[in-house]
Amino acid sequence: MIMHEAGGPQVLRPETVTVGEPGPGQVRLKQTAIGVNFHDIYVRSGLYQTLTLPGIPGLEAAGVVEAVGEGVTAFAAGDRVAYTSGNYGAYADQRLIDAGRLVRLPDDIDDVLVAGMMVRGLTARILLTDVFPVREGSVILVQAAAGGVGQLLCQWARHLGATVIGTVGSQDKAERARRHGCHHVILYREQNVVDTVKQLTDGRGVDVAYDSVGKDTFYDSLACLAPRGHLVNFGQSSGPVEPLAMPRLAAGSFTVVRPMLGHYTADPADRDAAADAFFQALRDGILTPDDPVRYALQDVGQAHDDMEARRTHGAVVLMP
Ligand SMILES: NC(=O)c1ccc[n+]([C@@H]2O[C@H](COP(=O)([O-])OP(=O)(O)OC[C@H]3O[C@@H](n4cnc5c(N)ncnc54)[C@H](OP(=O)(O)O)[C@@H]3O)[C@@H](O)[C@H]2O)c1
Repeated sequence: MIMHEAGGPQVLRPETVTVGEPGPGQVRLKQTAIGVNFHDIYVRSGLYQTLTLPGIPGLEAAGVVEAVGEGVTAFAAGDRVAYTSGNYGAYADQRLIDAGRLVRLPDDIDDVLVAGMMVRGLTARILLTDVFPVREGSVILVQAAAGGVGQLLCQWARHLGATVIGTVGSQDKAERARRHGCHHVILYREQNVVDTVKQLTDGRGVDVAYDSVGKDTFYDSLACLAPRGHLVNFGQSSGPVEPLAMPRLAAGSFTVVRPMLGHYTADPADRDAAADAFFQALRDGILTPDDPVRYALQDVGQAHDDMEARRTHGAVVLMP
């Protein structure tokens, strides 16, 4: 699925291209499932101008190695692999990719789940460890708690011993959020989030707020922090955050961070450690994400539409 210009979902159109043989250090992959992320929507709409046009968007997928190029020793034809990378090109049934981008898939880890969860799973991992270390007794707020990253954050944080307060946009999502580990759920379109968080925490607020909604929630998240609390703004599903006046942080010696997964996984050793932790958490049943919602690869426009309209929950994958 190629885009020649930025715009609505209709700019993504099928085209046939020759993939060719892998060059030195590359492999050719037969992809079995492809993840769809909000990042792809920002690329498609033109908010992120990071894909050279015409170009194939998409950051993550799982698949099977078909052929390896010169110098590739870590992988062989038939190996099951997955990747999440800053290198676009995932919206395709076959592709070439640098072998250094690949993570080997353990036999007991499902392709489709991982294809839609690598970015989200690794993001949840780094948010709960590297960005802010959640531990026994932490009190945390997760905005959009029934979302793809949100579900994983809630389950994992609860396992780590945190008290988890989640916000959601509907009753259906409230039930999902509870199933995925939230101790308290706030319907943020109906209830006052700041007042409710203050009530739930005896007026103190939360140690950390994880906010991927951005524009609509950022300043509420800030107001929910306990003194010396941390606001982790890792996304902008509702739009970019209005500029922050630094003096506002002095009200509670607050810290604000805007992390991007790629900066925490640039070193392959860090990436592999995060992937191993994610696979182990799936295996141990600490993480039990909803089954991914599946679309045919050609229906990627519909997948983008559904995500933007908040109709999805959990991972979204394209089946080539
Ligand atoms: N920084 C990083 O490295 C990184 C990595 C991965 C993901 N992210 C970001 O994390 C966020 C969550 O990603 P995800 O893939 O797991 O998506 P998601 O949570 O499944 O979907 C986003 C959710 O945000 C809520 N939302 C609130 N206002 C919205 C609006 N105006 N439009 C659309 N959604 C709105 C919706 O939940 P309700 O209906 O409950 O409100 C929606 O389901 C995205 O912003 C993504 O870019 C960042």
